[in-house]
Amino acid sequence: MATNQEQILKNTNAQILDEFNASVMFDKELYDQDIRGSIAHSKMLCLQGILSQEDQESIEKGLWQVKEEIESGQFEFKIAHEDIHMAVESRLTEIIGEAGKRLHTARSRNDQVATDFRLYVKEKNIAIMSGLKTLVETFVTLASKHTTTLIPGMTHLQHAQPINFGYHLLAYANMFKRDYERFESSYERNDYSPLGSAALAGTPHNIDRFKTCEFLGFKEPTISALDTVSDRDFALEILFNISTAMMHISRISEELILWSSYEFQFVKMSDEYATTSSIMPQKKNPDVPELLRGKTGRVYGNLISLLTVMKGLPLAYNKDTQEDKEGVFDSVKTIEISMSILNEVIKTMTVNSDKMLQACKIGHLSATDLADYLVQKQNMPFRTAYYITKSVVARANELGKDMSELSLDEIQSCDSEIANIDAEILNYLNLENSMNARNSYGGTSTVQTKMQIEYFQKWLEK
Ligand code: ARG
Repeated sequence: MATNQEQILKNTNAQILDEFNASVMFDKELYDQDIRGSIAHSKMLCLQGILSQEDQESIEKGLWQVKEEIESGQFEFKIAHEDIHMAVESRLTEIIGEAGKRLHTARSRNDQVATDFRLYVKEKNIAIMSGLKTLVETFVTLASKHTTTLIPGMTHLQHAQPINFGYHLLAYANMFKRDYERFESSYERNDYSPLGSAALAGTPHNIDRFKTCEFLGFKEPTISALDTVSDRDFALEILFNISTAMMHISRISEELILWSSYEFQFVKMSDEYATTSSIMPQKKNPDVPELLRGKTGRVYGNLISLLTVMKGLPLAYNKDTQEDKEGVFDSVKTIEISMSILNEVIKTMTVNSDKMLQACKIGHLSATDLADYLVQKQNMPFRTAYYITKSVVARANELGKDMSELSLDEIQSCDSEIANIDAEILNYLNLENSMNARNSYGGTSTVQTKMQIEYFQKWLEK
C-alpha cells in the first residue's frame, strides 16, 4: 500500500500534469469563436437530419447562456476542463442535459480548434488592417503639411541630399500600406473553413461542410481534412505580417528617438510620451518609442517559436500545436496597442522646421547638383564632374561654408574646367531648388510629393 507521503506525491504529480496539459487558461480567449462554431455545427447537423430540431434548439439556447456566463464573469474556468472546447461543452451539458452530449457528433477537437483559431486570426487580420489604415492616414495628413519643409535626406545616417519632410513621412505611409496589403492577402488565402474535417480524415456522417462554411462566413471549406487539422500556416502568416509591421513601427520609433535628441531637435514629442529620469532631473526620455522598438523583439520571438514548433511535426494533429496560441495572442495585442500609440505620438508631436533647415546647411547636400549640372549643361562625363565637385566641397570646407552658400567667384576659382561656369549655378545649389529638381517619378520634389499624397488619399477613400 502506498504510504501517505507517496499518495500526496502522486496527487501532486497528477495536478502538475493536468496543468501542463491544459490550455483553457489561455485558449479561453477563443470562447466566442468556439460558441459560434458549435452553433453553426449544430444547425448543420439538424439540417442534415443528424440532430433533432428540439435538440438543436436546446443546444443553441444553452450555448448562448454559456456565452452570457463567460461574458458576465460568472463562468468558472477549471484546469479539469483542459481546453475551451471541453469547458463549453461540459457546461452546456450541465445546463441542458443529454442533448449537450450530441453536439460533438461528426467533429473532433482537432477541426474545432482549427476553426476557432482561423476565425480569430481572420477577425484580427481585419482589425489590424484598420489600424494600419489609420496610420497611413495620419502619416499622409502630416506629410501634406510639410511638402516644402526641408530636411536632410540621409544614407548611412550621413547627410546626402535635401528632401522635404512630407516625402520622408510618406516612406512610412508606403510601408504601412504594404503591411495592410499583406494582411489582406493572408486573409484571402486562409478564408477556408476547417469545420467537418473531424479528427483527420473526415467523417462517415452525412454532414454538409458547405453549410457550416456559409454559416461561419468562410469562402469555402478546406479540401483536405488531413492537411487542415495540422495546418497552422494562417497563424504563421499573421505572425510574420505582424513582425514586418512592427519592424516598420520600430524604424520610425528609432527615427523619433534620434529626432528628439539634443543633436537633432527635429521634433518634440508630447510630454505624455516621455518620462523623466529618476536620477537626472533635467532629462526627458523617449520611453514610449523605445518600447515600441523593444516590443518588436518579442513579436519576432513568437514567429520563430511557432516556426520551430511546426518544423518536425508528422501528419496530422499533434499536441505540439497547442503551443500556437499564446504567441499569436501576444503578438496581436502588442501590435494593436503599438499602432494606436504610434498614431497618437505622430499626431501630437511638434515639428521644428527651423532645426531641419539648419541641419540642411551642413554637409553640402546640394553637391550632387553641381555634378548633375556639369553633366547636363557642359556635357561633362559624370566621373569628371564628380571630381570637380569634390574640389568645390573641399574649398567650401576650407572657407567654413556650406556649398549652397558659396559665391560664384569661390566656385569658379576651384578648377579651370569651371572657371567660366554661369551664374545660374547658384540657383542649382540652392537647397530648395535642389529638392525640387528631383522631379522624376517617385522623387522628392514638392510636385512629386503632392502626387504621392493624392495617390494615398485615393487609396484611403477606397
Ligand atoms: N487544446 C487543443 C489545442 O489547442 C485542442 C485540440 C486537442 N485535440 C486533441 N486530440 N488532443 O490544440
